[in-house]
Amino acid sequence: MMNITITKNYSELSVKAAELFYKKIKAKPSIHLGLATGKTPLGMYEILRKKMKTDGLPTDKLKVFNLDEYVGLSKNSSKSFYTYMKKQLYEPLGLKERQYYIPNGEAKDLEKECLRYEQMIDQFGIDLQLLGVGRNGHIGFNEPGTPFDSLTHVVKLKESTRKVNASFFGDESLVPTRAITMGIQSILKAKEIVVIASGEEKARALYEFVHGKMTEEWPITALKNHSNVTVICDQKSARFL
Ligand code: GLP
Repeated sequence: MMNITITKNYSELSVKAAELFYKKIKAKPSIHLGLATGKTPLGMYEILRKKMKTDGLPTDKLKVFNLDEYVGLSKNSSKSFYTYMKKQLYEPLGLKERQYYIPNGEAKDLEKECLRYEQMIDQFGIDLQLLGVGRNGHIGFNEPGTPFDSLTHVVKLKESTRKVNASFFGDESLVPTRAITMGIQSILKAKEIVVIASGEEKARALYEFVHGKMTEEWPITALKNHSNVTVICDQKSARFL
């Protein structure tokens, strides 16, 4: 089942997505969340952390899992996804180390790390997974052509993806060339998935997702097979729907 909510703009998208997550956390304080990085979730994270704090929502039973992390970047680098999450949610929500999980991009044995991460996902299970989408339809760092049955794995990042993510690094040459990402199959294991998209650059990917056929050329179309997906997108990204 796919639910689509189209909002006027990015702020309304952020409010709607934050409300959805807030309600789920309130209803089940021990919820296991799968979370994404990138620009799109920044608005909803800000609203969510403020509202949770103001309302004193308990966070001690929460667990959060991250989609991906760069390889070869120190965990404490200001550009790592670990640092992003720490700033956006781990610290503001007062999460303890045992409550958050993110692939270790500094692991000596990356294959082993991927296996460990996948086992963690299987052991705990993700109730609600947040996803952004790349312009080329990538989810997590699963670029076009990634098999739909992929588990957590190491990826070589596409030039186009490194260009887009250069805004966080200042220069494209500083963007790592590899990352660890949950695979498409790992993502599909979540009980419920929420996709957020904003801006014209995402319009084609959303079109393929909603109206296109399932194809590994558009990784997001793998979600067509999932039984519980909600899309929250703004008018610009929904222009072809
Ligand atoms: C990045 C991340 C994804 C993210 C996507 C869209 O490369 N690995 O997790 O959802 O691209 O990012 P943004 O929200 O900045 O458009």
